Amino acid sequence: MHWFKVCVLINYLIITSFAELERFEHPPKDDGSLSILVVGDWGRNGHFNQSKVAFQMGRIGEKLDVDFVISTGDNFYENGLKSVSDPTFHNSFTNVYTAKSLQKQWYSVLGNHDYRGDVEAQLSPLLRNIDSRWFCLRSFVLNAETAEFFFVDTTPFVESYFVEIDHTYDWRHVFPRRNYLTNFLKDLEKALGESTARWKIVVGHHAIRSVGHHGDTPELIEHLLPLLQANDVDLYINGHDHSLEHISSPDNSIQFITSGAGSKAWRGDVKENSTSSSGNEGCVVRFFYDGQGFMSLRLNRSSNDAEFLFFDVFGNVLHSSKLSKHLHSSI
Ligand SMILES: *[C@@H]1O[C@H](CO)[C@@H](O)[C@H](O)[C@H]1NC(C)=O
Ligand SMILES: *[C@@H]1O[C@H](CO)[C@@H](O)[C@H](O)[C@H]1NC(C)=O
Repeated sequence: MHWFKVCVLINYLIITSFAELERFEHPPKDDGSLSILVVGDWGRNGHFNQSKVAFQMGRIGEKLDVDFVISTGDNFYENGLKSVSDPTFHNSFTNVYTAKSLQKQWYSVLGNHDYRGDVEAQLSPLLRNIDSRWFCLRSFVLNAETAEFFFVDTTPFVESYFVEIDHTYDWRHVFPRRNYLTNFLKDLEKALGESTARWKIVVGHHAIRSVGHHGDTPELIEHLLPLLQANDVDLYINGHDHSLEHISSPDNSIQFITSGAGSKAWRGDVKENSTSSSGNEGCVVRFFYDGQGFMSLRLNRSSNDAEFLFFDVFGNVLHSSKLSKHLHSSI
């Protein structure tokens, strides 16, 4: 073939195919089970009970023999990381989550506060040289056999950050915003559609449904929720509201989970007029806690159950829930 034709063909393929979301694997234990801890909204140099929550995560993590940890974003307050050598990384992460059981991979998304710093620094693989547990990308897919996790970058969806004058955000690689969001939604739709995992779990920073301070995120209800519904997603897990929440949707397919209580909490204000709290969409608030804590998620190959527990700053179980998947056998 003529070289020119080859170049044209390559260009054509690049332009017309969607960029795939980057994929990673984290195999479960030999018996097929998987234990995970989820924490969000945490990095405050150990203050506001961050260290106490970390201590209990270590204790519960040991008991559950966790395979990895998920962070739902707002990893470093108030303004993300300044650079890859920002001491905040050490003071709010490495030096806080010191328990042996937490020396596992931490899969993280970015929150709005992380976007106020140098986003490229927080995403940089150089941080993994400082602490190999750290793993943060904008959006990616993590395959763990029985479950597939879809990590999504929700901050660019939120309109108000683009008109806000009080804070500056690092939108490099996000502009032009419309293209960024359109391409991301196409990529996510493709990845969700191709998934054959028993459990599909989507993780983002902002809530779709929440009765906490920030409440629902209308942009996610409009653009993200339909994709999750169409692809039988089981759990949507987020932070942003500094609380622990479990909200069921009317058709009982998606469970909305908030785990954003890794440090400063006790805001004491509940969004009374959010759609979920007013029950407009038929959502049922199964659990809401306005204090510090975290959650665990356990999946098991032999049973078709997924179990999640919420813990407070003393390591007490506040709420537990079990989901069962009835597999349809085809004859
Ligand atoms: C830390 O946790 C304790 C126990 O729940 C609580 O009484 C205290 O107010 C918390 N401190 C902060 C700064 O949130
Ligand atoms: C998996 O579930 C079965 C049935 O509920 C239980 O007997 C077993 O202990 C569980 N295994 C793990 C590793 O959790």
